[in-house]
Amino acid sequence: MNVDGKHYRTVWFEDLGKPMVKIINQTKLPYAFEIENLDAVESVVSAIKNMHVRGAGCIGVTAAYGMCLAANHSNCDFTKFESLAQKIKGARPTATNLSWAVKRQLELVKKNIDEDWLSLTVGEALKISDEDSQWCKQIGDHGKNILLDIAKSKNDGCPVNILTHCNAGWLAFADWGSATSPIYSAHRDGLSVHVWVDETRPLNQGSKLTSWELSNEGVPHTIIADNAAGHLMASGMVDIVITGTDRTTSYGDVANKIGTYLKALAANDNAIPFYVALPSSTFDWEAEEGGRGIPIEKRNSEEVKFISGLDSQGDIKKVSLSLPSANCANYAFDVTPARLVTGLITERGVCSATRAGIEKVFPEKFDN
Ligand code: MRU
Repeated sequence: MNVDGKHYRTVWFEDLGKPMVKIINQTKLPYAFEIENLDAVESVVSAIKNMHVRGAGCIGVTAAYGMCLAANHSNCDFTKFESLAQKIKGARPTATNLSWAVKRQLELVKKNIDEDWLSLTVGEALKISDEDSQWCKQIGDHGKNILLDIAKSKNDGCPVNILTHCNAGWLAFADWGSATSPIYSAHRDGLSVHVWVDETRPLNQGSKLTSWELSNEGVPHTIIADNAAGHLMASGMVDIVITGTDRTTSYGDVANKIGTYLKALAANDNAIPFYVALPSSTFDWEAEEGGRGIPIEKRNSEEVKFISGLDSQGDIKKVSLSLPSANCANYAFDVTPARLVTGLITERGVCSATRAGIEKVFPEKFDN
């Protein structure tokens, strides 16, 4: 997507004598657009942990490029390469794209052990990034049809009102995004859309990142407090909810940013379609029905006890929201059961959030 007229991916690789992973530091947005250089596996792990990069697809692509640094620093020692891979894999637990990308790189090197590891892994990381971008673009093409159908059935000339949670935009992938891709695609085609953007406490990925992205694309939107979504849905102000996901089971259960489950419940109660957009790299084909066993990340409670933003001097400041001694818990994800999900928008098309529906679209994953 474009920033000030220039096209960027969220992560890329540069080797001007020293291999380097380049990222957009998302903790600085929307106030500053800063590119950060990562030249060691430890810096990649820290960038993922501390959410300089975040969002399932983007974490996956960063991990894939991180594996290039691991390859470079392993001196052809596969045991060392595996141990650096473990470090990258352990950076965050919930988004399945992370372990998926690390495994792909490990298997590639294992199969081609006598080749040049750095060029092998750089080629594969670029492939993962290209696939991610292409799949997200296709999600946009399929999802756009759902928005067009809603516009036709509304037939009142008013914009299609979409509610989204967290940031499943291009910042959360290599490009395009999952939940926002249908919106970008429809908007570029001239469909009138308006997006309700959940602020998404505690880290405010909605108000900081999704809103910034939508502004860049000129998509009309309104930020709301997370707790406002139910009221808007009950008042007929939401036509469809589209979210992303960090891990989805082959039964259609969806792990996503904390609060997604509540949106799904409110959508269900108000007969509002609730769609989840994802590339196939976000399916966990082994996960149990109902999402039992999906690791739910618990982050530092400081993220709940403090909030950061720009002060009147233009500096990013952190301020306290509670007594320092207050007990606090920071669950970062929840699981929305498949029964609350109207459909999944994938790169191969839209399917029901059921094992049979998913099998129709990805039959090769169900071959025994
Ligand atoms: O903690 P984050 O910001 O990495 O979480 C990302 C999300 O949960 C998003 O909601 C998104 O839908 C999944 S990433 C495409």
